[in-house]
Order: sequence, then C-alpha cells, then structure tokens
Amino acid sequence: MRIRTFEEYQQAYAYSVEDPEGFWGEIAQNFQWRKPWTKTLQWHFDEPNVQWYIGGKLNITENCLDRHLADKGDQPAIIWEPNDPSEPAVTLTYKMLHDQVCRFANVLKRNGVVKGDRVCIYMPMVPELAVAVLACARVGAVHSVVFGGFSAQSIADRINDAQCNVVVTSDGAMRGNKSIPMKDTVDDALIGCPSVKRVIVLTHTRTGVSMIKGRDVWWETEMKQVTADCPAEEMDAEDMLFILYTSGSTGKPKGVVHTCGGYMVYTAYTFLNVFQYEPGYVHFCTADIGWITGHSYIVYGPLANGATSLMFEGIPTWPDAGRFWDIVDKHKVDILYTAPTAIRSLMGFGLDYVKGHDLSSLKVLGSVGEPINAEAWHWYDDNIGKNRCPIVDTWWQTENGGILISPLAGITKTKPTYATLPLPGVQPVLVDENGAVIEGNGVSGNLCIKFPWPSIIRTTYGDHERCRQTYFSTYPGMYFTGDGCLRDEDGYYRITGRVDDVLNVSGHRIGTAEVENAINMHTGVVESAVVGYPHDIKGQGIYAYVITESDPAHEADLMRRDILATVSRIIGPIAKPDKIQFVNGLPKTRSGKIMRRILRKIAEGDTSNLGDTSTLLDPGVVEDIKAGALVDV
Ligand code: WTA
Repeated sequence: MRIRTFEEYQQAYAYSVEDPEGFWGEIAQNFQWRKPWTKTLQWHFDEPNVQWYIGGKLNITENCLDRHLADKGDQPAIIWEPNDPSEPAVTLTYKMLHDQVCRFANVLKRNGVVKGDRVCIYMPMVPELAVAVLACARVGAVHSVVFGGFSAQSIADRINDAQCNVVVTSDGAMRGNKSIPMKDTVDDALIGCPSVKRVIVLTHTRTGVSMIKGRDVWWETEMKQVTADCPAEEMDAEDMLFILYTSGSTGKPKGVVHTCGGYMVYTAYTFLNVFQYEPGYVHFCTADIGWITGHSYIVYGPLANGATSLMFEGIPTWPDAGRFWDIVDKHKVDILYTAPTAIRSLMGFGLDYVKGHDLSSLKVLGSVGEPINAEAWHWYDDNIGKNRCPIVDTWWQTENGGILISPLAGITKTKPTYATLPLPGVQPVLVDENGAVIEGNGVSGNLCIKFPWPSIIRTTYGDHERCRQTYFSTYPGMYFTGDGCLRDEDGYYRITGRVDDVLNVSGHRIGTAEVENAINMHTGVVESAVVGYPHDIKGQGIYAYVITESDPAHEADLMRRDILATVSRIIGPIAKPDKIQFVNGLPKTRSGKIMRRILRKIAEGDTSNLGDTSTLLDPGVVEDIKAGALVDV
C-alpha cells in the first residue's frame, strides 16, 4: 500500500491508469474480507452505475477494530480532548473502542435496529459519536450523521428523506463557553418525523431534557443491559455504509451514498499515503465528524490503518486562540489536518498565541475544505511547521469519499495554493464550457474526473436521477466536480473554487438556493438573491439582496435581525447572511432569470465593469442596487 518515493508514486500512478482493476485489486488485498470479490470493477457513468469489489463480503469495523486487537489492542485508537482544557483527556485503546462499539451495537439491536435501517446521529464531538458511527456499521445500519450546528428543521428534513427509525443524540454540547442544547433540538425536529421510533440520549452536559416514555432511552442505562459480544454483520462490498447530506446548487441538500468496500479501501489508502502515517503517530484532524472530512480522516481512514486519531470537542479560539497549539503540545501531535478558515482566523490573533507552545512533534500539516490563499499557506508553513513540515493541500468532496488531488507528504514537491497532483487511481480532466477536453499544461477549465475511483458517490439517497443529473449529465461520460481548476506548466492542479451556485463559507458548503428559500420564508419578504463575496476569514461571505413587501425604512436593522433568526431556524446559524441589502428589484433577464454575475460583482465591490446589461428587463435596478451596496471601504 505504501508509497515512499516520488518514483514509486509515478509507478503507482501509471499502473493505476493502465490497469485500474489490477491496481485496486492489489491494494484491497491488505484488508480483511469474509469472502473475496469476483470482479474488481464494473462501471457506467451514464446511469451512473459503479460497483467495486463485486461479490466481496466484509464488515468495515472488523477492519477498523477487530483485526488490530492482537497486536495493537493496547494502543490508543482515539484520544479525546474535551472542550474544557482543565478536564481530563480520554484515551480509548483499540480494545476499549472495540468493547464500546460492540456494546453500543447491541444497544442498537435491542432498540430494534436491523441491517439496512437508517440511523440519524446528532451529537457533539465526543468519543461516543465515533462509537455510534462504528456501531451502526457493525450491525449493518446506515448512519446519517447530521452536523451539530444544523437546526431542527434541517434534522427533520434529513430524517424524513432517509426515513430513519432511530436517532442517537446527547443532552447538549459544549463549544467554548457556550452550552448548546441538542436533545431539545431533536425534540423539535421529531414533531415532524413519524418514522422515528427510538431516541438514544447520551448524558454529556447534564442539562435538563425531556424524555418521552416509550420513545426516549438513556445511553448509559442501555449500555448496562448488554454484553460486549457482538459479531459483525456480513456486508456486501456494495451495501450502503452511510448517507451524508450535502448542499448543491439547487433544491434541498442531497444524501450522498457511500458503500462499504470501496470507501474502506480508498480512505485507508489515501490516509496512509497522503499523510505518510507512521506507527505511533498522533493524527489530529480538526474537522467535525458531521462532515465528510471527519468521517474519512477522523474515523474510518485512521482506524483502518490502526492509527491514533485525536478528536477535539471544542473550538480553536477558546479559552484563547492558542488552543490548537496547546493540544499539539499536550498530545505531541504528529499530523495536523485543518481548514484554511481556521488558519486565517488564528493568523488574525497574532503570534503571541503560538509562542510558548512546543510544536516540535509536528511532522505533517494538512489543509482541506477550500482554496488556501498564499498568505495563509506561508503563515502555516513558517509559524506552525517552522518550514520543516510538508503541507498537504488536499482537494476532494463529500461525493468523493476521500482525497483525490494532493501532494504526498514529503514526497511530492509542494507549491503554495496548489493541490498539486492526482492520487493513484484518479484521472482528472479539464473541460471547457462546451464539454471539450482541454489538453496540455498552462490551461484552466472545469474539473471533471473521467474514471471511477473506489469511493466515488454511488447514488443520492432515494433519488438516483438527481445523482445522474447533478454529477454525470453536464459532461457525458465524466463525473463533474462543480469546481474550476487550473493546470500549470508543471501539470500541477490548483482549484480555484466553485463554478456553480454553491458557496463555501468557512469550509462549509452552502447552496445559494437553500439560503434564498430560507430568507423567502420570512414574513414580508417577496424575493431574494444570494451570492458569495470574498471574506478575509471565512473565504466567502454570504451577501443577500432582499425585496420586501414594504420599505423597511427605519426598521431595516430589526428586519435584518429577524431574517437572520429565520435563516438560523430553517437551516442553522452557519447559513446566516453576513450582509443583507434591501432592494426594490433584482436584475433579471426578459426570461426572468436573475443575473447573478452582476450581483456578485456588486457584492465584491467591483462595479467598474458590470459587462453587458442590455438584456436586462429593467437596467435601472442595477443603478439602485449599486447605490445601496454594502461594501467595506
Ligand atoms: C472545496 C470537503 C480548494 C471545493 C472535503 C469542493 C477545496 C468543496 C479544497 C467540497 C482544496 C475542498 N482546495 N478547494 N484543498 N478542498 N475544496 O463536500 O470547492 O464539504 O468542491 O468536502 O470544497 O466540499 P465538501
């Protein structure tokens, strides 16, 4: 599995393109299968229909837990750093984690969960979250983790879409000095979720919660009723492992489906090679398990390699902006994997917070979730890696399951702001607007992938046609990423950002249509249009143009506040617009289409050249909008 030199990378890459089945067949030999597969790959992007390791039987938790017990049983699998640094950290060895997962798997069974059921998990970043995820996989239930920052409405939408019958949650969560309710939010969600028969509640913050007889049970009480003996369910390689909802350019978030075999092989392979993990290393991925990064590089990828994965409950700025560095020092972290937005935010606090922490344990730094600007890259390199730790700028998406384009730490020569080269098995192509493939170097275009890798999206839950439409119809025969990309003279890839109506706010994917729908639900709002604009810390900020029934006049600030409350209620606080401009009209073409290009330019503060506005129904609205624009000076 392990690539150690650039020559080995080149050989592996060439092999993976010439003979993908041979290549991925060999990699998959490194795992524990109950029954071998009969055919490595079968695929058709038109439908799409992609199957890896056909006929193979396995359980991913046997690969993440059981097979390490003999030689790594007493080694730490998960180190948990609590929100409050004065509270003790918790270490779960592989034996302990195995024990917990088996017990909770039995709890799930006791509560009626059978193979194929969907289980919604809405929890803080505590070890029990990883336990719940793995316990689902153990019994063959499909987990659908919902990020703790989402609203009751968002939880309900996701539960209903997947028809979950069980929810696992906790009383509350701690983030910095705030205590956040979780069970209360789940209770609100469940008013509209008839499929849910059972809620399992972990005690964490010990806030008072309602417990409905016959529906709600305590985690701790349930765990006392079961043994730690729970043989893993035998799964087909193509059985569903999990659903994870993500935003697109239209409609409600869709449930991206990943399956057992390919996802396991790909996350494990990329974890090992991108980060160049060595036995004993402590890997600290700062993402939340509610996002794909947490699924693949806190839980499955590291554990499949018998690695030590550090989970952090809190936020980078509490008790102060030195918290990450405190954790690195305290736990002697070897690999730090974080997002550009966190780096930019910590940069703003200055170097005093870095000083005084021993960062000499660090060997590899990673970045994920959004383009990393040169300034942040250098700050990270100079002040955290002290110019001796390679930075892996990893590009990938929820739909990809694992990292697709990235340097291999210490092996691929890095270049600030570049994700550099495709990993073995990944065949990127750039295409122009008309779908023609752009050959050669020193070019840019829309990024597609022309051949399947083992953890490619299989479907969008309950709506296969939507999967086809979204990813496989724009450029027939290819998977379309939605990202723009440039390939420089060296053949290095640099991702320039989304080319569709998806925003990337602090590394969180948010669809403009979703935010517009939420704003439009606010009383008195007639219509809205949402665009992104460059934001120093968040990468992109959310700018909303809103038409109201009557001029909000002196009540504009109140109205803004209320709109924010509505958006928080419908989606969650992460989708709150940074700026709301009340307008009388929106620039629309005669066919009624909003010209977002113009709105984007105005939001960016660049009104010098708005391009051709002659096709607008009423060019006058543009002048009005320009005059009232909320741009920073
Ligand atoms: C963006 C997160 C530039 C990109 C793993 C992609 C990046 C979207 C990078 C997916 C990177 C992710 N450089 N852009 N290294 N990594 N992106 O699904 O626009 O939450 O399409 O997956 O984030 O976001 P998602």
